[in-house]
Amino acid sequence: MDTRIAVHPILGETTKGREISFTFDGKEMTGYEGEPIAAALKAAGVMIHRYTKKEHKPRGIFCAIGRCTDCVMVVDGVPNVRTCITPLKEGMDVRTQYGVSAEPFDKQ
Ligand code: FES
Repeated sequence: MDTRIAVHPILGETTKGREISFTFDGKEMTGYEGEPIAAALKAAGVMIHRYTKKEHKPRGIFCAIGRCTDCVMVVDGVPNVRTCITPLKEGMDVRTQYGVSAEPFDKQ
């Protein structure tokens, strides 16, 4: 089931880019070019984007407008990328962020 909003009551109809592939924690996934990385992940059922540094608590989409940092992930090796406002591109390597690393806490 696709959870994307196809027609919004205020913003109208959504236009989709071409379908592209990317990886999430090494798994092949597909999304639409130009949509937020977070939208592609949410459509695939991914809810956890990162774990907090001190208490290792899970975080995911919260504000969805680039203000809160709850959706940050490691994208193409760069930590702290706000996935709710970063457009998806072909071949992106998207990884869950643990503190400020893509390495799980038990391997840091
Ligand atoms: S969900 Fe708040 S910055 Fe992305």
